[in-house]
Amino acid sequence: MIALFSLALVVFASSLHVEAQDESRIKVYANRGDNITLPCGLERLSSMFGNRIKWTKIEDDSTETDVLVSMGFYKKTYGNFQDRVYLLEADDSDATLVITDLDLKDYGTYKCEIINGMQDKVVEVDLELQGVVFPYSPRLGRYNLNFQDAEAACLEQDSVVASFEQLYGEWKTGMDWCNAGWLNDGTVQYPITKPREPCGGARTSAGLRTYGRQNKSNSRYDVFCFTASLKGRFYYLIQPKKLNFDEAVDACKRDGAEIAKVGHIYAAWKLLGYDRCDAGWLADGSVRYPISRPRKNCSPTEAAVRFVGFPDKKQKLYGVYCYKPQP
Ligand SMILES: *[C@@H]1O[C@H](CO)[C@@H](O)[C@H](O)[C@H]1NC(C)=O
Ligand SMILES: *[C@@H]1O[C@H](CO)[C@@H](O)[C@H](O)[C@H]1NC(C)=O
Repeated sequence: MIALFSLALVVFASSLHVEAQDESRIKVYANRGDNITLPCGLERLSSMFGNRIKWTKIEDDSTETDVLVSMGFYKKTYGNFQDRVYLLEADDSDATLVITDLDLKDYGTYKCEIINGMQDKVVEVDLELQGVVFPYSPRLGRYNLNFQDAEAACLEQDSVVASFEQLYGEWKTGMDWCNAGWLNDGTVQYPITKPREPCGGARTSAGLRTYGRQNKSNSRYDVFCFTASLKGRFYYLIQPKKLNFDEAVDACKRDGAEIAKVGHIYAAWKLLGYDRCDAGWLADGSVRYPISRPRKNCSPTEAAVRFVGFPDKKQKLYGVYCYKPQP
């Protein structure tokens, strides 16, 4: 159902590397919270003096948002990037951008333009975050979210609506999910690795099945959320007895933490290999448990975050997962 836990991700988790694809397109891999550099510059010996440098982010609907503009001593940063980005200026010909404290929303394609009237230069850099995609539907049940609800639902789970590339990446590592969900480009899709009758047909090929672009205000589906590595600590709280939902919330608080969100359990499972065969409450009122070593009675056939359901909040039947943000 969900992608098998991959060891490769552990290796990536603490490192940052840059890979050149061709001259004008570069990929940068990073983690949430990192400070990263997006390379751009003129050939050596050409001075940048008097040049205009403009960094923009290309959004999934192809619009561009301003990140930074620089001309001589004049520098301006914009919106959510204000006070979080600057030019490295390692030498006269350098237009490399530094982004500090990387956030989930920073994922995407950036464009660097150097304009001097002589030899203008444009470079695109793809910034990819190591993370995990997970399907989400709320207590209300399947197919209840319009696009705006979907964005809010992911945000509440410490995540953002996933992009096509992110879902595609998860499908390539084995994700199979038979409910359609929103992606951040406004399309609705679902990933199938084992074609079968109820999921688009047994004779079709594996892949992402798409319903195409849907009406953002009145079409209702589930959503695919994306989250990245945790800045804090996710853990199962050892308790003498089982708890109802309110007791679970209090128990985490008394431990100096908060009840964990769905994004936290997926990030801990996928990126840290967290494994615990105890069903526990999460902040949205769901009960789940993360298994990375499949075994008898604990998700025997696959590594997965197991979903127990949205039980009656008064039931004293479960433990609790907590999350302690970094001080
Ligand atoms: C990132 O840069 C900021 C500001 O330059 C600095 O305060 C912070 O310690 C850096 N963080 C990391 C993880 O290097
Ligand atoms: C979406 O549906 C609403 C209500 O039916 C309609 O008013 C609106 O024009 C539609 N939007 C698009 C982009 O089709």
